[in-house]
Amino acid sequence: MTRVCFVCLGNICRSPTAEGVFQDLVNQAGLNDVIAVDSAGTAAYHAGEQADARSRQEAASRGIHITSVGRQFHSADFGRFDYVLAMDRANLQALRRVPGADQFAGTLELFRSFDAQSRPQADVPDPYYGGVDGFATVFDLCEAAARGLLDHIRKDLGHPEPSR
Ligand code: 4NP
Repeated sequence: MTRVCFVCLGNICRSPTAEGVFQDLVNQAGLNDVIAVDSAGTAAYHAGEQADARSRQEAASRGIHITSVGRQFHSADFGRFDYVLAMDRANLQALRRVPGADQFAGTLELFRSFDAQSRPQADVPDPYYGGVDGFATVFDLCEAAARGLLDHIRKDLGHPEPSR
């Protein structure tokens, strides 16, 4: 099993969107018995809450149902995941300070590094204090990066996409 955890600040906007989009791609590819998907936040402010209504609404309008409940990323998560993917540089820095990060044998990276069209060090910008447009942008950026991530993991697993 390859295990992926998407991480933002609050775990109510960006990382639940990434989780929902990526899980949908995994399901469509018939790989849900080999790829497991989760999300977390570097902060605990919204632990126990469902995802932001704006994220859920944007995703629902595109046929994706976000069901995740906010939780904070913990040290032990480094032992549970192969990929820990941060939505932005601030959260990548925060993850690098979590005890155990320096022993993590998996991939600790920016999520958008899997989007070949993105610039180096590109963030999924925090939409929380902005308008609804920000949530549509987050969805689009997550979708592009999720496709690249799935291609990457498929190659790694020796299940490249048959026809493309
Ligand atoms: P997220 O968005 O990190 O994408 O879940 C945020 C959610 C909450 C806050 C900031 C960003 N907040 O400051 O409460």
